[in-house]
This record gives sequence, structure tokens and C-alpha cells, in this order.
Amino acid sequence: VLAEGRDRIAAAEDLEAVRAVETELLGKRARLTELKQGLGGLEPDARRDAGRRLNEVRAELQEALAARRGAVEADARRARLEAERLDLTEVVTDDVLGHLHLVTQAHDQLEDVFVGMGFTVAEGPEIETEWYNFGALNFPPGHPARAMYDTLYVEFGEPESTLLRTHTSPVQMRVLEANEPPIYVVCPGRVYRSDTPDASHMPVFHQIEGLVVDRGISMGDLAGTLEAFTTAYFGGAIHSRLRPSYFPFTEPSAEYDITCVICEGEGCQTCKRTGWIELGGCGMVHPNVLRNGGVDPEEYTGFAFGFGTDRLSLMRYGISDLRDMFSNDIRFLRQF
Ligand code: PHE
Repeated sequence: VLAEGRDRIAAAEDLEAVRAVETELLGKRARLTELKQGLGGLEPDARRDAGRRLNEVRAELQEALAARRGAVEADARRARLEAERLDLTEVVTDDVLGHLHLVTQAHDQLEDVFVGMGFTVAEGPEIETEWYNFGALNFPPGHPARAMYDTLYVEFGEPESTLLRTHTSPVQMRVLEANEPPIYVVCPGRVYRSDTPDASHMPVFHQIEGLVVDRGISMGDLAGTLEAFTTAYFGGAIHSRLRPSYFPFTEPSAEYDITCVICEGEGCQTCKRTGWIELGGCGMVHPNVLRNGGVDPEEYTGFAFGFGTDRLSLMRYGISDLRDMFSNDIRFLRQF
């Protein structure tokens, strides 16, 4: 009975099986119980011996059952832990930190270059009055030059009195009003025109304005400042040139071009084979503008320039589509 019982116990695979074997071996119908009931027919001495032996067997089977139950429980626990196991050796990449947007980086770098040349930085509002954006800058009412700017007007006050600034030039006037010459400032910021987005246009883009007003400032100072800026920003291989142009607020006026950075020679799409790309406008501050700003044009002269900074990034990094800069695709932004 003992040997058979031990085999049965060892074969029990889980708790339920152990319980079943227990009933089978020690329960009311068990062989052991039957044997105990049969003790009554024996002589007192033999009964005592046999009874003691039966009790020993019973105790041994109980012990074996307890041991088996312990082993089965331990197995189950081990299996459960194995299933819930965390792999602490897995390599997890570092947290990804964000960084400044390309537009902000460009403005920071531009400010650094101009601050190094002795300029300070000024800012103005993006929602402007018609006066600062046009009137003060010598655009008479109804002047055709206003049509150069696809203006977005704000519904506020008199019709067409309030607008989203179309260039950073209104900051020139705010700086003139608030300061006495000598003035050496740059004004980076966001500007708006009702353009349809394409590879080189966005209805919201960025410019940096420069304004210098001092005694004896000439067109040569303008050309020299832009050339110094160009080589400082792009490196010695890139140069600047001025090309005659027209703006109501400068006289004479010019376009500011730089050596084509992406030039693929004969068939270059970027500069259309001229070897130069237009960055922005510039010129000598018009006497009317100085006067509107409370500065005497007999005593002071000045120059101003303004150019798009998003296109600057396109050229610097060889980005082919302006829209990529503003679509917030992290795969694009991460590269800079
Ligand atoms: N504000 C002009 C533009 O956006 C550029 C410019 C600035 C021209 C300063 C002359 C002087 O087109």
C-alpha cells in the first residue's frame, strides 16, 4: 500500500491531482481505511502492532502528500514568474530632446552676426496699422507700390486701417520714433502676405530688417555692411552685389543678391544661370521716412535692408521645398 501510494503521489502533476490522490489514499473508501476497519478481527497484540504499522503508513503518506503539494505549488509559482518576467537587460534608447526650430536657429545666428558688427536687436508688432506698414514708409494712399504686397487686412476700425504686416519695414519707423541717431538695429520677425503656398512661397514667412542712421552714411556703407554680413554668415566663397530697384521708402533702392549657393552651373534651376540669387531689398532711407520718424535728413542719412530668412535657410541647407519647414514633420525637423 505504501509503495503504490508513493507512486500515485509522485505522478500527481498539479494541486487538483494531489487532492484527488489524497482522497483515494486516505479517504473513507481507501485501502488503508478498509484495513483499519479489519483490525477488529485480530488478537490484541497483533492488532496493536498492525494498528501502529497502519498509522505509520498513514503518516508517511500524509508526509509524502504534503511534500508533493509543496513541490507542485513551487512549480506553479516558478512558471508564473517566468511568464511575468521583465527583461531588464533590454536596451532602451535615450529620451529624445527637442530643439529650436530652424527659423529660430536662423534668427539667433543672424542676430549673432549683426550684434558682432555693432547692431542691437529690436522687435515690433505683427498686427500693424496702415500708417506704419505703408503710410509712414512713403507709400501715398492708392500708390501702385502697395499692390506689390498682397496685404491681409484685419477687420478692425476703419476698412483697411489695420493689417498683418507685409514686411518688417514698419519696425524702422517705430525705431526712428523711439530713438535718436546714431541708430544701428536689426529687426527679425514674422510677416504675412496672401500668397498661395508653393515650394518658394508661404503666406506666413520671416524677414530680418536692418536700419542704420548716422552722420555721413553712404551707399558704400550699405554695400560694405551687406558684403561683410554675407561672408560672415555664408563663408568667404559667397559674395554680394547690389542691383538697381525701386522701393518707396528708399532712394536709391537696390536688390541684394548673393552668389548662387546651390549653383549647378549651366543648367542651374535656382539662379537660372545668372550665378546670383536675390535675397531682398535695400537702399538709402528716403528723406520723407527720416522726417516721418522725427530725424532731420539734412543732418543724418541712413540705409536700410530687408530680406527673407526662410529662403536663407533653404540655401544654407539645400532644402528644396519651403513648405517642409512649416509642416512640423519631426523627421524633417530632426535633421537641423
Ligand atoms: N521691405 C522690403 C520688402 O519686403 C524690403 C526692403 C527693406 C527694401 C528695407 C528696402 C529697404 O520687399
